[in-house]
Amino acid sequence: MSTAIPNAAAAPSHVRGERVFHLSPSRSLDGRIRVPGDKSMSHRSIMFGAIASGVTEVAGFLEGEDSLHTLNAFRAMGVAIERGGPGQVRIQGRGAAALVPPTDDVYLGNSGTGMRLLTGLYAGLGVPVTLTGDASLSGRPMARIVDPLTRMGARIDTAAAGRPPLSIRAAVPLRGIEYTCPMASAQVKSAVLLAGLHATGTTTVHEPAVTRDHTERMLQGFGVEVRVDGLSASLEGGQALQATSLRVPGDISSAAFFLVGGCLSPDGAALVIEGVGMNPTRTGVIDILRLMGGRIEVRNERAQGGEPVADLHVCGGGLHGIEVPPELVSLAIDEFPALFVAAAGAAGRTVVTGAEELRVKETDRIEVMVQGLSALGATITGTADGAHIEGGRLAGGQADACGDHRTAMAFSMAALIADGPISVLDVDNVATSFPGYAALAAGVGLDIRESAPGAGASA
Ligand code: S3P
Repeated sequence: MSTAIPNAAAAPSHVRGERVFHLSPSRSLDGRIRVPGDKSMSHRSIMFGAIASGVTEVAGFLEGEDSLHTLNAFRAMGVAIERGGPGQVRIQGRGAAALVPPTDDVYLGNSGTGMRLLTGLYAGLGVPVTLTGDASLSGRPMARIVDPLTRMGARIDTAAAGRPPLSIRAAVPLRGIEYTCPMASAQVKSAVLLAGLHATGTTTVHEPAVTRDHTERMLQGFGVEVRVDGLSASLEGGQALQATSLRVPGDISSAAFFLVGGCLSPDGAALVIEGVGMNPTRTGVIDILRLMGGRIEVRNERAQGGEPVADLHVCGGGLHGIEVPPELVSLAIDEFPALFVAAAGAAGRTVVTGAEELRVKETDRIEVMVQGLSALGATITGTADGAHIEGGRLAGGQADACGDHRTAMAFSMAALIADGPISVLDVDNVATSFPGYAALAAGVGLDIRESAPGAGASA
């Protein structure tokens, strides 16, 4: 049974970040860049390497705060993990049985992926541990994983209303279940499958829509048999992972800001983003921007560690509004903050529906984007599951990212459609997924400076 922790402290309130992006109107993005490694794959590479037998070498690992919290979680369980040059990680796995329960609570910062996937893994292993996070993570719904894991026999205590912290109690071996997931969520699918790795019998997850399949692909790379049939994935419990080596591609969710900025560039763009992950469960942003008239070419397609990769070439040329096809939403779920900015600069009206999951991300992304874009001069109305956005030029002004990395970077690209300067407040969490963002963006022509508390502004 899952129970609420009786004396759990109330969720902490968000401590506002002091970093600010300062932007001036910009007209073009040009150059060749690489974006940091895929966040979803970086988390999974550590988790799977840590429970595998043998040495796993990872290249292209995202050295962002979120994935580093996952790395530290396994160091706290006795796994030797060395960091080499940029993006190089070496994990000395000794099998799941060698994990030592952590002596302290495990803090996962801002990371929903870290918390949800680790809960599934630890529940399956019966590791007694309490997982905590920052104010944003402490407000996010966890019943979506606690419910199916409890049905498998796990015992997980939560704070009120199923929120973190989550305390996993050692339980008898879990039993596999067949689970129909009520929402399109790769994190829920993954939590259940990872619990199923150490459960008895078969674990099957049915999804309502396609979500990212990195767990299924990467587990196969570690030698686990995962059966995928349409919207269903299943595996047998008791399979051991064998170490492997993998190269994490650039994160399409990070590339998305540049795709949008390039498409919106009034003087045209000549931007190449090299080595971007092109897993078909993640490429909705390209499809949506192309439907809006965006000129994006996919070149030099190749396979890398079980995942497709390509170089993306973006020319400007402007966008027009569309009704975003609901079947593309789960394939672009993290890209909607950027797509809202694309819509704010597109000719005509864009309608987003079927995107209610945006309300339970690091922030309520519908609300934060509606507030911020309105403050910059856009005409935008939020709905329960999306928004109506009238495109045009923006005046500029001050947008509050509310501590959300993706809204912060999205608002910065509004400099390409604004007539006046823009400040984006509370951008400290950009480092969770995209360390070095402002410098990289400045290097391709976005007029951006970042000011830090007690320091001057820098590009
Ligand atoms: C992720 C799944 C998505 C996404 C998140 C990363 C993952 O969340 O928003 O940034 O790595 O599995 P949901 O599964 O909750 O939609």
